[in-house]
Amino acid sequence: MCGIFGIVTDKEQPLGPILIEAGRWLSYRGYDTVGCATLKNDGSIDLRKDAGKIDQVSERLRFGEMSGSRGILQLRWATFGSPSQVNAQPHLDSDGDMVGAHNGNVVNNLELRQQFITEGMTVRSTNDGETCVHAVERYVDRGASLLDAIRNAYHDLEGDYAFVIGRSGEQELYAIKKGSGLVVGIGEGFTCASSDLPSILPLTRRVVRVQDGQIVVLRSDGITLHRVEDGLPVVPRVETITETMESAKKGGFPHFMLKEIHEQPGVAGELLHLLEGSPDVDRMIERIASARLLYLVGCGTSYHACMLGAIYLARLAGRPAFPILAPQFSAQYGPAVSPEDVGIFVSQSGETKDVINAIHVAQDRGMGVLGLVNVIGSALTQVSEVYLPLVCGYEISVPATKTFLNQVVAFLYLALRMGKHSTKSLVETLPRLIQHTLEITAPQVQALEELLADHDDLYCLGYGLTYPIALEGALKLKEITYAHCEGMLSTEFKHGPLSAVDEGYPVLFVAGPQDVPLIVSGINEVTCRGGRAIVVGPEDSRLRINAHHLITLPAVDGETSALLSVLPLQLLSYHLSLARGYDPDFPRNLSKTLTVD
Ligand code: AGP
Repeated sequence: MCGIFGIVTDKEQPLGPILIEAGRWLSYRGYDTVGCATLKNDGSIDLRKDAGKIDQVSERLRFGEMSGSRGILQLRWATFGSPSQVNAQPHLDSDGDMVGAHNGNVVNNLELRQQFITEGMTVRSTNDGETCVHAVERYVDRGASLLDAIRNAYHDLEGDYAFVIGRSGEQELYAIKKGSGLVVGIGEGFTCASSDLPSILPLTRRVVRVQDGQIVVLRSDGITLHRVEDGLPVVPRVETITETMESAKKGGFPHFMLKEIHEQPGVAGELLHLLEGSPDVDRMIERIASARLLYLVGCGTSYHACMLGAIYLARLAGRPAFPILAPQFSAQYGPAVSPEDVGIFVSQSGETKDVINAIHVAQDRGMGVLGLVNVIGSALTQVSEVYLPLVCGYEISVPATKTFLNQVVAFLYLALRMGKHSTKSLVETLPRLIQHTLEITAPQVQALEELLADHDDLYCLGYGLTYPIALEGALKLKEITYAHCEGMLSTEFKHGPLSAVDEGYPVLFVAGPQDVPLIVSGINEVTCRGGRAIVVGPEDSRLRINAHHLITLPAVDGETSALLSVLPLQLLSYHLSLARGYDPDFPRNLSKTLTVD
């Protein structure tokens, strides 16, 4: 996830060290290029940027020597344009007298770039950060003040983003927020703005949290806030931050896992916006549609997303697909794979050795390789003919949460598009539904903490669309509570595992709206033997009467309900991990990226 930082000071001074330090604080978000610009009092702009990590790039390009009275730093996590020097941010306008950088995604980037080229602007990269600068330039060239030009550009730039921009010969920087984070810091003789708090706290603890649709004008002696719609000033609410740096990095949450769970409405929204404007979606659909056989390949949580993806593709697009665990791909399908086949390889890290091994088998047999991946620049992005980025930013906590959700969202989106269904309602409602589900299920889950905390053995059962979710819920519970939790198809339970049930034995059920009668049978097989049935599902009198506990989800269609049902299971795992005295972010014996066989 990109990060921006801008600072305005009361005199020309060495700004390089301040920008490098801010970059180091932003680096936990994940990035692949880095750049700095300083604006000097003589009107010149010093711009240095390249692909690589901040310590190496800043040493090679001597960021430490950069000076000025205003400075901008950007860490870029590539989505539009490869992670290269030319696509690195900040970017200049056509004449080189404005400089700016953004974070987030401008989803109509391609369209706007084409317009800017037609209008005669100098467009140097394919990156959407440059698009933000030209979007402002367009109105400055027509005679608008910088503030008004930014207000107009805001309406042209679709997507979720924040950006900071400055012009030579002036004393200010301007920053704007639409969907992405933007925090302002106010200090003695300087003000600054950043994507998030940790990079500001070493400089000052007086901050203003900018809201969507607001523009902030940064001056060395203070800030003014303006509304985008009419430019009128807004009174800034200045807060004094007391939290530690570590908790600021966690966004105020006690653990990265909880922070990442709560980032899900935002990352789902970002992904859907990106997919709506992405030509890679069409390329991917074309490849899938013309393939003889389609395999969906991943490990662990990513494999569960493949399982749900296969159900979505069959139900919504009539396209059968084989979900397969990556290490089993060669043994099960290797000899039968042909060059007319295509695989979608799904991986958060893009580096999992089991997945890379399966790709080698696929490539040896001439099969097409597509990717769904979070880490841009990873091995999977390099070997895929086409890949869709999951745009989750850095997932620090070992248990995957937001990346699983966005893998599933990407599959659901692809299936809808392939089946020629409208994606409008998904794009418009899903982020709010995710937010709402987190809000309503959090207290319901916490009420179960005491009941389940001491159990070392339980089952998690689902059927149809919720079967992969039951497997994912069980994996999450195992991973961070160290209890044994087996995920299973609910109808299989009576074929053996039912013998484990005795007085008080807990069984979790995940019910989709279309499968309530079947789940009710499963519940009764458990409860009549003294077991305790805990259900995640829609508000339904049949579930309410038959189960001991019902964690209710919003009333939505089966496909969306399956996706939402993972949220309470993530929360439950998190709380049970804490109740059992473990650190959910870093479970024992596990690693975030498994680059071994
Ligand atoms: C999920 O919580 C796990 N940490 C694990 O199962 C993970 O999904 C698996 O190792 C695959 O990783 P990848 O998505 O980076 O390929």
